[in-house]
Amino acid sequence: MSAIKKGVILAGGSGTRLYPLTSSLNKHLWPVYDKPMLYYPLATLMGAGIRNICIVGSPRDIAAYRAVLENAGRWGIKISCREQSEPFGIAHALGCAADFLEGDGSAVILGDNFFCGEEFLYGNIRAFRGGALAFTQKTPEARRFGVMELDRDGKPVSVVEKPPVADSGLAITGLYLFDGAVADHCFAVGVAERGEMEITDVLARYMSAGELSAVVLGPKTGWMDMGTPESLLQAALVVRQAAQNDAALIGCPEKTAYKMGFISREEFGALISAMPPCEYRQNLLRAALRMAS
Ligand code: DAU
Repeated sequence: MSAIKKGVILAGGSGTRLYPLTSSLNKHLWPVYDKPMLYYPLATLMGAGIRNICIVGSPRDIAAYRAVLENAGRWGIKISCREQSEPFGIAHALGCAADFLEGDGSAVILGDNFFCGEEFLYGNIRAFRGGALAFTQKTPEARRFGVMELDRDGKPVSVVEKPPVADSGLAITGLYLFDGAVADHCFAVGVAERGEMEITDVLARYMSAGELSAVVLGPKTGWMDMGTPESLLQAALVVRQAAQNDAALIGCPEKTAYKMGFISREEFGALISAMPPCEYRQNLLRAALRMAS
């Protein structure tokens, strides 16, 4: 079981880049095929054995997050919420969870990040012992993201937010592991070029102290940032394909809760029975039968 017991989902921000879609509904509540976006990062954290989870959101959206996750108490996890008064950046949002973290280590995930095939991630989360760790992936689109360069031994030597050129091609995904010092680092970063307190500057502080490590995701782990209309559609297609092919369902907290032993078989069955007739229920029912056989 992981040494990390706490998780944070950062789901604040204004989403202006997705206007007009975000004018009345925050992107983390949008459907990604058959469930709200928030379910995906939540299920990723739960799959790592993390049961104590804090969601950071804008004052406007917190009530809606609570409503969407009203059943979470029956998933064997504890959800807390913290407000981020203004979208001052990802490091600022994480600082808003300081009193939840209480100096403990954490896995932090951005609310618009989508992972699948996470077993490799989970091995690294279990093995994490201190400092900070960023999960990265080679992509031709790297300059749309935070970008990392590694030396020959795989140690990070540079971390830059959306550089004009990304020679390494190594994008920093929105999943990070931090030791108990992260909130102090978040409070210490300044406002960067795009007017925000950047998570990459938090990583850079760990790097300067020789405490940053990186893991490059292989082809078995899927990753997408659902922050553009195109990637949102692609993520939905991946989820649909898994559901239609009877493969492992992606992003289902109920199923993950059962798989991880957070809830019993009876509790899992009761959750499914309580759902109105819908495709999600059907898919979960099929998954439950498969898991029982
Ligand atoms: O997806 C990975 C990338 O995410 C990283 O490579 C970058 O280093 C990181 O800065 C971030 O870049 P984005 O430009 O995609 O960040 P965005 O503003 O879209 O915010 C990502 C998530 O963070 C989003 O789900 C909401 C949350 N957020 C964002 C801001 C600006 C907050 O909770 N509060 C905020 O103030």
